[in-house]
Amino acid sequence: MTKKKLLRALEGEPLHTPPIWLMRQAGRYLPEYRQVKEKAGSFLNLCYTPKYAVEVTLQPIRRYGFDAAILFSDLPLIAQGLGQKLWYEEGGGPRLDPIREAAGLGPLDPGQVADRLAPVYETVHELVKALPDETTLIGFAGAPWTVACYMVEGGGSREFSEVKGWAFRNPEEFEILIEILVDATAIHLCRQAEAGAEVLQIFDSWASILSDTGFRRWIIEPTKALVSRIRVDFPDIPIIGFPRAAGVMYAEYIAETGVTAVSLDTAISRRWAAENLQSKIPVQGNLDPLALVNGGAYLEQEVRETLDRFSGGPFIFNLGHGIVKETPPENVAALIALVREYSA
Ligand code: CP3
Repeated sequence: MTKKKLLRALEGEPLHTPPIWLMRQAGRYLPEYRQVKEKAGSFLNLCYTPKYAVEVTLQPIRRYGFDAAILFSDLPLIAQGLGQKLWYEEGGGPRLDPIREAAGLGPLDPGQVADRLAPVYETVHELVKALPDETTLIGFAGAPWTVACYMVEGGGSREFSEVKGWAFRNPEEFEILIEILVDATAIHLCRQAEAGAEVLQIFDSWASILSDTGFRRWIIEPTKALVSRIRVDFPDIPIIGFPRAAGVMYAEYIAETGVTAVSLDTAISRRWAAENLQSKIPVQGNLDPLALVNGGAYLEQEVRETLDRFSGGPFIFNLGHGIVKETPPENVAALIALVREYSA
């Protein structure tokens, strides 16, 4: 059997037709997802019930034949694995009982993560059996900094004043939280790999809100520690890093962290990324999710430009951020056709 396309790209092979998958490819834009979520009763129940999580992971594979499936789960679940209270408001994002001082760190226990998140690994295990031979299975976690943002703010945020306040006023104390997260996330990702995830992606959605100094301390250092921890048990597993909107700091991120590939956000200069990043490691990205919502000539032009720029080197077609719920499912089919019919 020939090697799976996504794995070939991650090994550095330029492919005439790049592999394609989309961040958040399972989700509310699909009517069949909404149906299963309704059956599950809640988003968290969907995440924690392997039967349902497997089903929604497979939905976009059946419908579109993507080259990769990404485990259906969510980034803040690790906080719950550590012992923090997590819930979802209907139609909204994650909410957590915020931790804003050292006293709140005491109860967090990385030793509990593997047990509390056991259904997630069960989902991975079941997916290995259910996926088509040519489909790569991706496991994922949030990077320590981004998960810390959710844990300290208590959910999403505009200003990130609480997490920055803590990190800037008392970095030694904040570092304890980051160390706990490196530990917990290493366990979480290794368990996914053990259960059969073939590739791991680390989402650092809030990588763009720190200065150079903050970026090195709270993004690069913890990611580097996390990657080396994973490599102890899984020396060869490909790891995709996604320091979203990190701009020129992407270069330092790839030089320092040891990731196999990077995922690019929509706003980065493609020319700069091809010259400075793809010349060193495989890249993934970076179509604007809103171009996919709107379709038409702009979508076609963006897809062609992306392929013209990146298909000469190792490349994985993806979005620059997660798919949004307003996306017409037929636009996703059109996108796949555009990518697969492309010739330079
Ligand atoms: O298909 C996949 O990509 C796999 C599943 C997946 C989800 N979230 C499902 C989800 C993955 C990989 C994520 C990652 C994630 N979750 C990130 C990193 C990527 C990014 O977007 O920056 C972040 C920051 C989160 C946290 C999160 N979860 C937010 C901010 C929200 C609310 C926003 C929204 O789209 O509603 C969620 C909820 C969430 N995670 C949904 C899904 C399908 C929607 C919940 C629902 O169905 O009601």
